[in-house]
Amino acid sequence: MSDSPVKVNTPGTAPAEPSPEDQKKMEQAYNQMKRKMSIAEMGKSIKHKLMVLSGKGGVGKSTVATGLALSLAQQGLKVGLLDIDITGPNVPKMMGLSNHRLHVEAGRIYPAVGHLGVKVISMAFLLEDEDTPVVWRGPIKLGAIQQFIGDVEWGELDYLVIDFPPGTSDEPLTVAQNLPDIDGMVIVTTPQSVALLDSRKSITFAKSLKVPVTGVIENMSGYTVRGKAEAGAEMEVAGPGGITLPVIADANGDWHVTLDIFKSGGGQKTAEEFGVPFLGKVPFDPGFVRGGDDGVHRIVSDPEGLSSIAFASVVSSIQSEVEGASSSTNLEII
Ligand SMILES: Nc1ncnc2c1ncn2[C@@H]1O[C@H](COP(=O)(O)OP(=O)(O)O)[C@@H](O)[C@H]1O
Ligand SMILES: [Mg+2]
Repeated sequence: MSDSPVKVNTPGTAPAEPSPEDQKKMEQAYNQMKRKMSIAEMGKSIKHKLMVLSGKGGVGKSTVATGLALSLAQQGLKVGLLDIDITGPNVPKMMGLSNHRLHVEAGRIYPAVGHLGVKVISMAFLLEDEDTPVVWRGPIKLGAIQQFIGDVEWGELDYLVIDFPPGTSDEPLTVAQNLPDIDGMVIVTTPQSVALLDSRKSITFAKSLKVPVTGVIENMSGYTVRGKAEAGAEMEVAGPGGITLPVIADANGDWHVTLDIFKSGGGQKTAEEFGVPFLGKVPFDPGFVRGGDDGVHRIVSDPEGLSSIAFASVVSSIQSEVEGASSSTNLEII
């Protein structure tokens, strides 16, 4: 064989060996093509895709994203949860998947299976240990997100719920640009005016991404206190801001009152202002905090409780928006 760097195929001879650089380029092109094909396949195998956003951190977005996934799974639907936030392992924790590591086989990434059969992929599965924060350069992080979109073997899903880091950052932009047919964005807010200001930014951002806004959820909205008294007893409960609330015990002596500890109604106001649907309220429930620590989300530990009922109602509103079906449940939060 000649030593010339240019290799020519002459009829009857074996094809010339590609150079290592060409080999690498061919592999990259092949992987790119495979990823594009699998993303196109996802369009068919995943019926609905929802992005969950908030203007700032700490409003309970991951708690809500995980709650939505679990509430959908409670209906017997096939659900996936994609956690794009590299800064903390909150989603794996709530799904009882702490310290899970990414499972890769033949170039495909396999989701972990969490509570109620929800399939979970989290950027936190890439962490060495959950206490070590990761600082990734922008392009590497966005490359990893693209890979998470194209290379995960989700199988058939009714819903894929995607959780993001807080704010209007590169991550939702990358997902919106790479994942076709996103049904919509759900904006999570708390009732305080600062959070509402941030959620207004999220709505403007969502609109700029040309992804429909499914609606706004008000989290940490109202805290229900319960008690026992004599049947029919009339009482006064001291509420926030110096107000007193009249309470009457029922025939069994049970009473309850809902305190708007962070005010209420702001999420609805924001939704109305922007002409987007209001999807409902999730109450303030210390069980969410405990659930984050214990690795069991509130919906799993108390499936019949007020918070689970609230999530079912929010999910029903989302399904009405996304599937165009009329709401099948009409549950009220007390
Ligand atoms: N409805 C709620 N009631 C009580 N605590 C909540 C509620 N939603 C979230 N939390 C708590 O607030 C904290 C932040 O929640 P998280 O979901 O991590 O927020 P984000 O993803 O917006 O940063 C966690 O400790 C969580 O348990
Ligand atoms: Mg979060």
